[in-house]
Amino acid sequence: METLANKIAIERAKSSKIHDVDFDNLSFGSVYSDHMLVCDYKDGEWSAPKVVPYQPITLDPSAKIFHYGQSIFEGMKAYKDENGKVWLFRPEENCKRLNKSAERLAIPQIPEAYFMEGLNALIQVESDWIPQNPGSSLYIRPFVFASGNGFHASPANEYKFIIACAPSGSYFSGKVKVLIEETYSRAANGGVGYAKAGGNYAGQFYPTKLAADKGYQQVIWTDDNTHEFIEEAGAMNVFVRINDTLMTAPTSDRILDGITRKSILDIAKDEGITTEVRKISVHELVEAAENGSLKEMFGAGTAAVVSPISGFGYHGKDYDLPELEESYASLLKKRMTDIQYNRAEDKFGWRHEV
Ligand code: PLP
Ligand code: COI
Repeated sequence: METLANKIAIERAKSSKIHDVDFDNLSFGSVYSDHMLVCDYKDGEWSAPKVVPYQPITLDPSAKIFHYGQSIFEGMKAYKDENGKVWLFRPEENCKRLNKSAERLAIPQIPEAYFMEGLNALIQVESDWIPQNPGSSLYIRPFVFASGNGFHASPANEYKFIIACAPSGSYFSGKVKVLIEETYSRAANGGVGYAKAGGNYAGQFYPTKLAADKGYQQVIWTDDNTHEFIEEAGAMNVFVRINDTLMTAPTSDRILDGITRKSILDIAKDEGITTEVRKISVHELVEAAENGSLKEMFGAGTAAVVSPISGFGYHGKDYDLPELEESYASLLKKRMTDIQYNRAEDKFGWRHEV
């Protein structure tokens, strides 16, 4: 990795908002720390990243983000261990995926050193904002958008890369009930489903609202062609346990290649659990729910961590999942979070000290 020639400039906030935050009752992503990282793309190059006070951004009404949706983001977390050391989990994977998304949305590549060293500098400045309460962490949101102007439907010539942080608790407040989608699609072959593009989420909001009106917290998307195979949920990849086998759908150009998903697969294999990465049909899921071989389902993602699914709705019928004393979800969640919070050996080399 190329390193930054100069140290990252840091402009400190005049006062801190930290004393206004109730760290014992954190929701997800709704309060923001004192600083952010900013990097501007202009005249064909990225300026060196700077840490500045968290503040609003001024944009021209003709900025292309508003019209053509050139916007991508990442989600990651910083964890503080009981000795006050700070850790990131596989941050280079987020950098790679941001640049994969950038390529698909015709956004210029972010130099790896700007991402990694900028992130490190920001998290060092914000280390007091990393909660130590169980289950809490500092959620980190790197994002890039078209700040350049013009109504011409073509890529902008100016962009902003920002990293903002939000001390956060759980994404879901309990078990999650999901609806298997039969009408709408999140992504299509050849589309942008594999990218973490803002528009992928906007497109989910309406069908997810229809599902929420019926009591479901997330939609499980099915393939756009036949709606016969499950793909992923709105904010997480999905795992299914039939008897003792743990399975998840293969990634494709319609599915986000989740960092949690691949970590869970590696940990499960290490635990001696049989895993399968294969197409899972809705028919198979319904049949397994009916004959009792469907033992559990859970979602996996940075925000969601490992979130057990209590049941699913399909074709007007609800299928409840059993309460397990010893679930794969709790075993795998414990192993992964023990690595993230530096409570256990990191045999995979995933932890990155800040
Ligand atoms: N799928 C979608 C649509 C997501 O938004 C996320 C969250 O980032 C995931 C899957 C899980 O990805 P990761 O584990 O990298 O956070
Ligand atoms: C994440 O898990 O980091 C995400 O980006 C999901 C988002 C919808 C909160």
